[in-house]
Amino acid sequence: MKDINILAIETSCDETSVAVVRNGKEVLSNIVSSQIDTHKQFGGVVPEIASRQHIEVIIQIVEEALEEAEVILDEIDAICVTQGPGLIGSLLVGVNVAKTLSYTLDKPLIGAHHIAGHIYASNIDNNISYPSLALVVSGGHTELVYLKDVLDFEIIGSTHDDAVGEAYDKVARQLNLEYPGGPKVDKLAKFGEDKYKFPRAMIDSDDYNFSFSGMKSAVINFVHNAKQRGDKIVFADLACSFQTAVVDVLITKTRKAIENFDVKQLILAGGVAGNSELRLQVLKLEKELGVEVLIPKMSYCSDNAAMIGAVGYYYYKYKLFADPLTLNARSTLDLEEVRK
Ligand code: KG4
Ligand code: ZN
Repeated sequence: MKDINILAIETSCDETSVAVVRNGKEVLSNIVSSQIDTHKQFGGVVPEIASRQHIEVIIQIVEEALEEAEVILDEIDAICVTQGPGLIGSLLVGVNVAKTLSYTLDKPLIGAHHIAGHIYASNIDNNISYPSLALVVSGGHTELVYLKDVLDFEIIGSTHDDAVGEAYDKVARQLNLEYPGGPKVDKLAKFGEDKYKFPRAMIDSDDYNFSFSGMKSAVINFVHNAKQRGDKIVFADLACSFQTAVVDVLITKTRKAIENFDVKQLILAGGVAGNSELRLQVLKLEKELGVEVLIPKMSYCSDNAAMIGAVGYYYYKYKLFADPLTLNARSTLDLEEVRK
């Protein structure tokens, strides 16, 4: 069969990324230009600045990705771009570059779902089997997704409020850690103990939903009260107590879903999939329940275009093409809308 080379573009938040992926598996290049240094001075992503920076670098990143892959535009079979969800101004930059390339080169255009990309990051170095369960944990999403088949997603549970990554970043601010604080809280937690026993919200609820805003508030209130009383707080213990509570809830709900749905694999997806404690606990579930666990390598956990090329291959296979004249970026886009 002929090789399928996909030029993939991801600009949904604060990473400008372009990749060339062959047959959904072979990552020929995956260039990621991060804007973290710009946004950290504001304590979080400033959408206006994010879209401007995408515009400034995107063409250069496309050129670098092609160069590193040693592929010319003529050898590209389709242009795939993250259509949503994400920051609308950021998404629009990638979508417009993709539409222009598709129209001028007369190549098929694919508008991919960002979370589908995070999930299919696990299909790069491994093979997803069906049915599977994905635990999606990122800055904007916390979901348990049942994958019936290729590109067939059912969300069986999600957060009522904050996403896990968002809660991590807000707790990090309390600990005076720079944006994005998630990885820094994770590191700090290794030096602490679960002394403060924060509440495990919704851990016993009869569903697969989550709530993290209460846990985040518990940490914030704890810090305020301690400051007012002049008590000394051990930040490492605070980080560890928060992390232990969060991971405890995530694992408890995931275990319940694996027990009640007949799945072959558990797929960890999204930026928080890089969390050391979560990775450890998920691997324990593998032993406990005998379910195969797929965890993407670190560079495919945070936002990157290789994962968009990985899922784009299946959009290509099932001819899920978009019109280069009318495709629009969507800040909210339902994962269950993706259908082959
Ligand atoms: O998937 P992602 O790169 O972007 C979104 O689609 O949102 O996820 C970014 C989020 C941030 O909130 C970041 O703090 C969090 O993932 N994150 C972590 C870790 N690494 C990244 N949170 C906890 N522990 C980590 N090791
Ligand atoms: Zn993401």
